[in-house]
Amino acid sequence: MQNWISRIAVAAVLSTAGASVALAETTVGLLLPKSGVFAALGAEIDDGFMFALEEAGRVDEFTIVREDTEVKPPVGLAKARKLVLQDKVDTIVGVVSSGVLGAMRDFVHQAEVPLIVANAGNDHATGKSCSPYIVRVSFSNSQINRPMGQWMYDQGVRKIYTLAPDYAAGHQMIEAFSGSFTAAGGEIVGGEFTPFGQTNDFGPYLTSARATNPDGIFVFYAGGEAIRFVKQYGSFDIKADVPLYGSGFLTSPLYVGAEGDAAVGVKASLHYVPTLDTPENNAFVAAFQARFDRTPSEYAVQGYDSARLLMGAIDAGATDRASIAAALPKVAYTGPRGPLEIDPATNNVVQNIYIYDTVKDGDGLTQKVVGQLTGVRDDVNGCKL
Ligand code: PHB
Repeated sequence: MQNWISRIAVAAVLSTAGASVALAETTVGLLLPKSGVFAALGAEIDDGFMFALEEAGRVDEFTIVREDTEVKPPVGLAKARKLVLQDKVDTIVGVVSSGVLGAMRDFVHQAEVPLIVANAGNDHATGKSCSPYIVRVSFSNSQINRPMGQWMYDQGVRKIYTLAPDYAAGHQMIEAFSGSFTAAGGEIVGGEFTPFGQTNDFGPYLTSARATNPDGIFVFYAGGEAIRFVKQYGSFDIKADVPLYGSGFLTSPLYVGAEGDAAVGVKASLHYVPTLDTPENNAFVAAFQARFDRTPSEYAVQGYDSARLLMGAIDAGATDRASIAAALPKVAYTGPRGPLEIDPATNNVVQNIYIYDTVKDGDGLTQKVVGQLTGVRDDVNGCKL
């Protein structure tokens, strides 16, 4: 008996020792906000990323170095430099804020380090400032919002007031929506950009919006700002006569529970909702729920797909920064959000966009898909790869 136990122990040590030769071949810098207005988004992307590695049984192949951007562009850039120069990462995954992505772009391009963008939608990163080292698997700000202009016009909406935080993503999201809405024949009757991450009281903005007597308000807010905005919209009597529309981060499953009934009836567009009834998504939602005891949001899927893209590149033979960058755009598959591919002209993701309504589901809230565009691809927008 003792001999049998010790033989197992020796075998375990040998297999651990044998496997360790092949362990941690790829070093990943996970660069996400752990503090600030987008901290919850960063944690969700991290969970999605690790979940994909776990599901594939490949956690041990990767060394993960985590850094906090604090949602501040200079901090994000300093952390990117540290990951590349000190930790010598093979690839960076992450970045939630378009502002942080803008600040890092020249550094990753010049250092020739692949960056898998797991959130930040900054249009320029896959447009006029594109780079063979920047591959975006999340979305672009214009890709998410462009479809809403025509869809809302088709629903009979004619006059819209817009609100968004005053930074790159807020401006780009509103510009994309306004462009398609006015091209369809709609009118933007007014709008404001609110101090980013510092606006606690949206009351004055809601009052200004109402004074223009619009058919609706269209907004981009995410994270803590989305929760505050939607709750305050619900607590003013404005909700009864001015409908709320937005880019779908507004009522993300990550925080719609905190928004509560104020979110009911908000219509928004996004690249993923957990209610998509496909075999790939049903399997993903069930497995994620079993692992984390919550419904995955679009941010979890972005982390998950970042890891799948990276594993796909490695499976195609990529071993170092240059070969990872070259292989990433060639990875394509049908995942939780539907078919996913990277546009070789821009390195931005090509994907479906879903328009959804937030509806009551027992005690909670859920996403009812009311419209869909397939294979939405951005224009080249000055990108030369
Ligand atoms: C962005 O800054 O690009 C951004 C941040 C949070 C979101 C979406 C986009 O939910």
